Amino acid sequence: MNLGNCHNFYDFRELAKRKLPSPIFHYIDGAADDEITYKRNTSAFDDVDLVPNVLRGVENIDLSTTIFGKKIDLPLYCAPTALQRLFHYDGERAVGKAAQKFNTMFGVSALSTVSVEEIASLIDTPKMFQFYFHKDRGLNDAVMERVKAAKFDVMALTVDTITGGNRERDLRTGFTSPPKLTLSSLFSFAVKPMWGINYLTKGKFELPHLQDHVSEGTSTAVSIGNYFSNMLDQSMNWKDAEKLCSQWGGHFALKGVMSVEDAKRALDIGCTGIMVSNHGGRQLDGSRSPFDQLAAIVDAVGDKMDVICEGGIQRGTHVLKALSLGAKACSGGRLYLYALAGAGQAGVERALNQYRAEIERDMKLMGCTKISDLNRNNLRFRKK
Ligand code: LAC
Repeated sequence: MNLGNCHNFYDFRELAKRKLPSPIFHYIDGAADDEITYKRNTSAFDDVDLVPNVLRGVENIDLSTTIFGKKIDLPLYCAPTALQRLFHYDGERAVGKAAQKFNTMFGVSALSTVSVEEIASLIDTPKMFQFYFHKDRGLNDAVMERVKAAKFDVMALTVDTITGGNRERDLRTGFTSPPKLTLSSLFSFAVKPMWGINYLTKGKFELPHLQDHVSEGTSTAVSIGNYFSNMLDQSMNWKDAEKLCSQWGGHFALKGVMSVEDAKRALDIGCTGIMVSNHGGRQLDGSRSPFDQLAAIVDAVGDKMDVICEGGIQRGTHVLKALSLGAKACSGGRLYLYALAGAGQAGVERALNQYRAEIERDMKLMGCTKISDLNRNNLRFRKK
């Protein structure tokens, strides 16, 4: 198995599995409880069929779309994800540079291992920052100011991590940030020596937005579930979100909205977009998939804000289905993280290239030349 053999999501997943110590692989791959929502996020797309049109002259395809006032060349972008340095030593640098090559948006997590300043100096493709509302108000203000100074285009407040999800794979493997060797995990790290050599020799593991304020995650090892449960402010409410939105003063999104009611409230407090998302099935298992909620949310707010469908995307056709329902774009984490783990920047580029090729091919087969050609007439829901 090597990069040249990776032709789809599952091939990249297999490559990542071979490269990563198992606690790290399972941190990416795992989800909450019985992982039912995680599976549903993808299988939801199978309940809808595409109905193509033919004879439309499809030699030139325009995949560009505009989100948060920025034109991107692909209706799919790299969602912010945490701790990328653990998956490949180039971490966010690799993903950011790959996103830039495809002129799509790059999301940077507050739990990123490369700073917003460095990312801003590396790439000029549109950038989003994923904000976690901490109990430590000094940290919140400092992060907001830094991201503003780095001139990021979008601030996304995470609203679906009010407490840690029950990620049983992480409990079993003992995954923490930073990784901690225990008697039981020793073997899983020892069998991937290249990962260990890179981790120890290619620069220090850091969480540059957090480590000056809190030791958890950098000098104190914690699970991500415990980080969410103990460090984030569970009293966070709509007033806080509204304040953050005006403090930011630019494009502001809520990441993790699932109900029509919340989508409308997001609009009321000044958001210019939402990510319809359940955090990749990693938080509330048994919750509905983003794709299943998409039509109702688009109907309620889609003409007034950017609705992004996030989660479960593994194929170009998934993107086409979400766009046909009215999403402005799609985003995902695992869809580029396995590729990052497998082969760094070259891996992410290969993955994005495949998604672009799939989306373009599927547009042609659908008889569509631009994103706005996609609409609900292209879809039939299967009777259940
Ligand atoms: C996770 C966070 C950190 O799902 O986004 O692990």
